[in-house]
Amino acid sequence: MNGKPKIIGVLTSGGDAPGMNAAIRAVVRTAIKRGIRVLGINNGYQGLIDGDVVEMDLRKVSNMLHRGGTMLKTARCLEFKTLSGQKKGRDVCLEMGIEGLVVIGGDGSFRGAGALTALGIPTVGIPGTIDNDIACTDYTIGFHTALNTVVDAIDRLRDTSESHNRCSVVEVMGHGAGDLALYSSVAGGGTSCWINEVGFDVETDIIQKMKRTLRTGKHNFVIIVSEGITDVHELALLIQERTGVESRATVLGHIQRGGNPCAYDRILASRMGYHAVEVLEQGIGNRVIVIQHDEITDLDINEALEMHSTVNRTMVDINNTINI
Ligand code: ADP
Ligand code: F6P
Repeated sequence: MNGKPKIIGVLTSGGDAPGMNAAIRAVVRTAIKRGIRVLGINNGYQGLIDGDVVEMDLRKVSNMLHRGGTMLKTARCLEFKTLSGQKKGRDVCLEMGIEGLVVIGGDGSFRGAGALTALGIPTVGIPGTIDNDIACTDYTIGFHTALNTVVDAIDRLRDTSESHNRCSVVEVMGHGAGDLALYSSVAGGGTSCWINEVGFDVETDIIQKMKRTLRTGKHNFVIIVSEGITDVHELALLIQERTGVESRATVLGHIQRGGNPCAYDRILASRMGYHAVEVLEQGIGNRVIVIQHDEITDLDINEALEMHSTVNRTMVDINNTINI
């Protein structure tokens, strides 16, 4: 364990997520309040290797709380996966006097944070991704905003599907994790929700279910599919052929990653950014900041990375019970 750092760095890495700016702001302002200088590192680990660094002050993060994206930009940097790339990053930290680092990103970014800590720069991770696929935390920064965006899209699709008596097949992001699809199905009333984590049969879970529902007098449908499972355009054609209900597919895509963070994400980011500085202030690294049962705490990065993300089974049951 080292002493209190005089200078810390902050960077964002991996896919951007709404609320990353709020987390940067919280890190900068908490650190400065405690007499610690903050350097912002542009372009994730690539910027660290390149020494692309900017001094952060209280005003630099003004008017950022409500903005989507990340003011520090983000990148995926293959070189940082190698020991030589990590050593370059460590050397830049040493040159700039960076004695602690906050990395806002997903589990790939946390592996980088662990590597930097092992090389002597105490580094703390903050979970920022719309996917909510980090097992150690109940929620990641960006998830709730993306969820609201998806639900808004579903509401709009429902209006037009209802008017035409159509079925709308919607592909939702998640990078293999089903939370965004499942939660948006519960909030948006998806007739069926197809995610990787749960066994699913198109015949039983879509076609037969829709046929039953048609007999009860309902003629419009929303089917939610988590990305990477199937071609939603082909699925829409199949549904049309098998049920006779005219069907259209929509891939929501990167729209889900943009937009102003919702209040929950701003608050979560502020709490996590504040806590990250408290950890670094003690000279501690290799931690990831998490929220569990509405309490902010921190865990060992290696232990956190070993945990496996699971889908909320009760939520699956709720979806299947209510959305008929
Ligand atoms: P996320 O952080 O959202 O999971 P990625 O998996 O793309 O996104 O990781 C973001 C960046 O973190 C990578 O581009 C790379 O620079 C760094 N990274 C990923 N995996 C490792 C690793 N095993 N060791 C060191 N750095 C890594
Ligand atoms: O991890 C966030 C995420 O938006 C995933 O949901 C998606 O699969 C991926 O990033 C898309 O990444 P890219 O920015 O490379 O298109």
